[in-house]
Amino acid sequence: MKEKEFEKKHDHREHHHHDGHRDGEFLSVKDLTVEYTSGKQVVHAVNGISFDIKRGHSLGIVGESGCGKSTVAKAILRILPDHGARIAGGEIWYKGRDLVSEPEKRMEHIRGAEISMIFQDPMTALNPVKKIIDQISSVIRLHNPGMTKKEAEEQGIKMLRRVGIGEDRVRDYPHQFSGGMQQRVEVAIGLSCNPDLLLADEPTTALDVTIQAQVLDLIRDLMREKGTTLLLITHNLGIVAEMCDDVAVFYGGEIVEYGSKREIFKNPSHPYTIGLFGAVPSLTGEGERLKPVEGIMPDPSDLPLGCKFHTRCPYATEACSEGEVPVVQLGGTHYCQCHNIEAVKAAQEKEAAK
Ligand SMILES: Nc1ncnc2c1ncn2[C@@H]1O[C@H](COP(=O)(O)OP(=O)(O)OP(=O)(O)O)[C@@H](O)[C@H]1O
Ligand code: SF4
Ligand SMILES: [Mg+2]
Repeated sequence: MKEKEFEKKHDHREHHHHDGHRDGEFLSVKDLTVEYTSGKQVVHAVNGISFDIKRGHSLGIVGESGCGKSTVAKAILRILPDHGARIAGGEIWYKGRDLVSEPEKRMEHIRGAEISMIFQDPMTALNPVKKIIDQISSVIRLHNPGMTKKEAEEQGIKMLRRVGIGEDRVRDYPHQFSGGMQQRVEVAIGLSCNPDLLLADEPTTALDVTIQAQVLDLIRDLMREKGTTLLLITHNLGIVAEMCDDVAVFYGGEIVEYGSKREIFKNPSHPYTIGLFGAVPSLTGEGERLKPVEGIMPDPSDLPLGCKFHTRCPYATEACSEGEVPVVQLGGTHYCQCHNIEAVKAAQEKEAAK
């Protein structure tokens, strides 16, 4: 398909401002593989991950520390470290272009104007030697070249107020703020440019519940008003239930289970998901966090053969420790990568009947 046609076919945004969900492929990650190399060691952080997000939709990524969540977001934005990090394979289709092979100049434009990221560690995103107000207003001006400095500052102050930062603090430097305040500044900056795609990496972890709710409201407003598409990384099941259409469960740099929120919450099927969600996941799990799963994640520089979860899985059989693991479609958009789905289900039902 020619690019023009692709854009035309998929850009419904102009015509459907308020209907929330729209058809059409917007972001499509195919078989993405990312490695970090230091000396002789190769860290296999992301191992052949594929997912799509339709325009205006939201995907939640969950999984324990080190499973490759932030790496995926950074690969999309192409901000992996210059040295030692490499997209070793795969494609990242965004509005009909493969970002993996886009020239850096074009990526600079996309980063400034179309895709923004809220970082897990806000200090990496904030400039330590620039006042908060100057940082946010320069982003706003970049997107509204016609705006005067004063207008941009006024809009910046408004945005900061919406994340709970009063005007009396806007002339401070980042180091004068607490971690939670820095995170809120980052959220305000990330949202102030009205991105087409927002990559939000644990955007509310350092925030108390009231501010957290405000930040989530802001993201939802943005999605509704501007049709923003959301990739959300979180440890909080309540936030997934509240914010996401679909869920991808990561383990060892792979997606082990994928589906709509309903499919995943109603019928968690991968032993790892079952472990993470605890015995009875609920769709209204207010503030519920992912449960720790027994055992530790294998070292991504030395991943086991076969199913990467087999070293911890209570349902592992011989087949699990070698070869490819089948991906089984369980329904509509629900996929699970496991040899023993039937046996796991039966064991779960037996457990529940007790
Ligand atoms: N710059 C880097 N150099 C070398 N290894 C890295 C680098 N960044 C990440 N890694 C490794 O890649 C793997 C995936 O890291 P990543 O940050 O994507 O995990 P994550 O799922 O975001 O974890 P967390 O929940 O702790 O944020 C980890 O083993 C991590 O140690
Ligand atoms: S493939 Fe085997 S080890 Fe992996 S999750 Fe399924 S049962 Fe467990
Ligand atoms: Mg991370």
